[in-house]
Order: sequence, then C-alpha cells, then structure tokens
Amino acid sequence: MTSEPLLIVGAGIAGIATALAAAPTPVLLLNRSGGARRPASTMAQGGIAAALGPGDAAQAHARDTLIAGAHYNDPAMVHWLCAQAPATIAWLERQGVAFDRDADGALQLGREGGHGQARIVHAGGDATGARLMQALRERAQAAAHIHWQDDADVEALLLRGAVVAGVRTRSRAGDVREIEARGVVLATGGIGAAFARSSNPPGADGAGLALGMAAGARVRDLEFVQFHPTALDLPGARSLPLITEALRGAGARLHDDGGRAVMAAIDPRGDLAPRDIVARTVWRAQQTGRRIFLDASTVTGDWAQRFPTVLAACLEHGIDPRRQPIPITPAAHFHMGGLATDFHGNTSIAGLYAVGEAACNGVHGANRLASNSLLEGVACGRRLGAALAMRAHASATGPARWSERGPGLPDGQREALRGLLWDAAGPVRNGTQLAAAWRHCQDAGAAGWQMRLAAALLGAALDRRASLGAHWREDAQTPAILSRMAQSA
Ligand code: SIN
Repeated sequence: MTSEPLLIVGAGIAGIATALAAAPTPVLLLNRSGGARRPASTMAQGGIAAALGPGDAAQAHARDTLIAGAHYNDPAMVHWLCAQAPATIAWLERQGVAFDRDADGALQLGREGGHGQARIVHAGGDATGARLMQALRERAQAAAHIHWQDDADVEALLLRGAVVAGVRTRSRAGDVREIEARGVVLATGGIGAAFARSSNPPGADGAGLALGMAAGARVRDLEFVQFHPTALDLPGARSLPLITEALRGAGARLHDDGGRAVMAAIDPRGDLAPRDIVARTVWRAQQTGRRIFLDASTVTGDWAQRFPTVLAACLEHGIDPRRQPIPITPAAHFHMGGLATDFHGNTSIAGLYAVGEAACNGVHGANRLASNSLLEGVACGRRLGAALAMRAHASATGPARWSERGPGLPDGQREALRGLLWDAAGPVRNGTQLAAAWRHCQDAGAAGWQMRLAAALLGAALDRRASLGAHWREDAQTPAILSRMAQSA
C-alpha cells in the first residue's frame, strides 16, 4: 500500500464530489486558480434534473436525455444517471443544500428545453451552482482527509512505466512542485473559453484535456460542443453572463429587432426546443444582420428570488430584464466530448481518471439535455471517489518520465485562435472552413498546446461529415432517420 494521496485536479462540482466520496483515502485537491476565480460549476444556473414530480419517472427522464443526445448516448449510462437523480438530490440535501420548496414544503420543479415534464430543482433560484458549490466546499474544507492547494497549475504528469503516478504543478509566481500520487483524477471542466463567445469562465480552456492528450489518453467526441442560445450579448466580452433557459420555461420568448417571434415557425416546441436547435436559429438570424432579444417581461413572481443571477448581471449592464428585452447571443457552453472513460471514470491510462465535463463517458451523446451536467458531476464524482477509496493501490514501478502539456500560446495568438474556433467550429459549421482552420492549427501546433487541442477538435469536426446533435454541418445532409426523430420528439 502507498501513503501517497489521491490527486484531484480541479475544484468544481465533480472534483469536490469525488474528493468527499474518497474518504478516508487522503486526497490533495489541486485548484488551478486562487479562491477568487470561480469554476464553471459556480456559474450554473439551470439546476438539476430529477424525475420527482407526479407522473414522472426515471425512464421518461432517460428518454428525453436520449432524444436531446440524438441517440448517440450510451444508453446504459443514461439509464444509470437518470435512476441516480432522486438519490443525488437527497444526498445533496444531506450535505446542506436547501433546494427551493413551495409553501407546502414540496420541491419546486421547473421546466427547461427538451424536458417533457417539469423536473428541474433549483437552490436559490438561478443561483443553484453557487449554492451547491458553497455547501460542498464547506463540507470538503471541514473533511480531515481532504487538503487543498490553490494556485497550482498541473503542467505535467509523472508516469512510472505505463502508470500515472504523480504531477508537477506551477504557481503563478513560478514555484514548481512535484507530487507523487496513488492516482490522478482530472476534473478540470470543459473548453468553452477556447471559443470567442462563451458562458464559461476563462479557466475552462481545456488545459486538463490537453494534459491527458499529451500523455496519450484516448479522447472521444471532441466535435460535440454545446452552444447555449441565450448568453447576454455584450460586444467584445469573452465570458458572457448566462441568461438561463428556465426563463423560457417560465414564459420568456425570443424575438428579433423587428418584434418577430424567432422560434414559432421553426419547431413545434417553440422556444423550448432543444438548445442546439434554438442556438442555430439565433445564430442564423444574426448572420442576416438581425439582433435577437429575449422578452422576459411576462415572467411573474419575485425576480430577486427566482432569477437573482440574471437580474444582477443584466442590471450591471444597464438592462432591467423585468421591463426591457435582453439582447442575447449563442455562446459555447458545454463540451460533450473529452477524455474517454469507461462507466467508472477510468481513462485508457492506468492511474489516470477523468470525471465531469473533462470526461466523456457517453452519457450526453451528441448534445446534453438541460440540467444534466451538475447531476453528472455529482453522481459520477461520488461513484468514482467511492471506487477509488475501495482500491488498494500498490506503488507504480518502472522507469519514470514526465509527460508535458507544453507551453501555452501568447495572449494575442490565444485571442486569434478563439475567433478562429468560433467562426469555424461554432453553432453552424462547414467543411471548407473547418479544413482551413484545421490546416492552420496543424501547421502552428508547435506554438502552444491550445493549437494542438484546437487541431484535434477541428479534425474531429471535419471527419464527422453528417450533422448530429450539436455538431451541425450546413454542407451535409442530416440522415433521414435523425430528422424523423427530431420531428417526432
Ligand atoms: C441554463 O440554465 O439555461 C443552463 C442549464 C444547463 O446548462 O443545463
């Protein structure tokens, strides 16, 4: 047995859930940024989907998840996750999360795009991610088996033979630390910040995915990036405040600058169609020079209680969403692809695990259903942590070597790459643009790890010639079976 800790890279919801469940195994939780910079989980507004309402069932939740994912999902993973949802809510309540309840004490259930039922639970209205993170962070900080290290960017993985056995970290001031581990869990989140327009924080740039790729870990489905249709349209800004889909569930409607309804003629589900369809529709309208707005003035109830995050973000930018239309734009929001893992979170390299948005276990298919991501982070994190706690881990032997992620791009080139990815691999793609962008990134691969990551994503998008889920190729025909499925959903 080794006395080395389990290293968890990333202090978002999936990383913390893994750390808590790993007790009593000693855990070192490495947080790339300091306490002030927020992980994407903190910004999650949508809530957690769980079949808890009268007449609802895990099978119905699973069916909606599969339809949103264009049936590209792993069905066993989907059924497992949806069956876990009610118990996950109960566990979170035991950790101190107070979900919103009505006057009779029953959980309030909201509705979001792609869901056939009202089944989204919230905590503090649209501040759900922040409330969850606060409760789980407090638990983790009080747990004797968990130690934190902030300001620790993992720049290399240590391999002994073919087994990952540690990491090397670097602080912003340049301090380097080598840490041996009984296993390394990458819970580093998604890649939204690699795009010019994103609802993600700047740290969601794919650094963990690039680290795993550099070590030779298998990746999958990199082309599937979800674009949220409604982020606050702030020209020039990169990290855009999300305007939660729950507002459309509560009656808000999209219209253009001429007052025309945007979704009416597009999809029978209207403004609550799956978000890839809404995002493409908004994107196309923007390409014709129209500006798109969300009219939420009909949304009733106490905004400060139901939508405090949206209210504050809009007011900060001089828009009162209770009275004025909100200018919106699609934005990169969630990566369905990532480091390929099995059901339990094992990557293709021994000693290396992945969980949450950094991982791809197939549960979201080609497009994630709304409010399934916090659920996945918590449920898969708990399962992985518990499995690792059970595992007697012998020290890896064999020759040691460092697998380096390599230097990053200078700021200016990173900015240009974000624009390139947005234009070529945004909500609507075509082969010509993808090929040109891919060639550029391939040729410039030595310039920084972000270029190599972008080349991998663009190559995957180029290889998938047919449209599927969030990957939309305007130069390809949608397979007839998929359009029939979309129509009958
Ligand atoms: C939202 O609140 O619209 C986003 C929720 C999610 O990403 O599932």
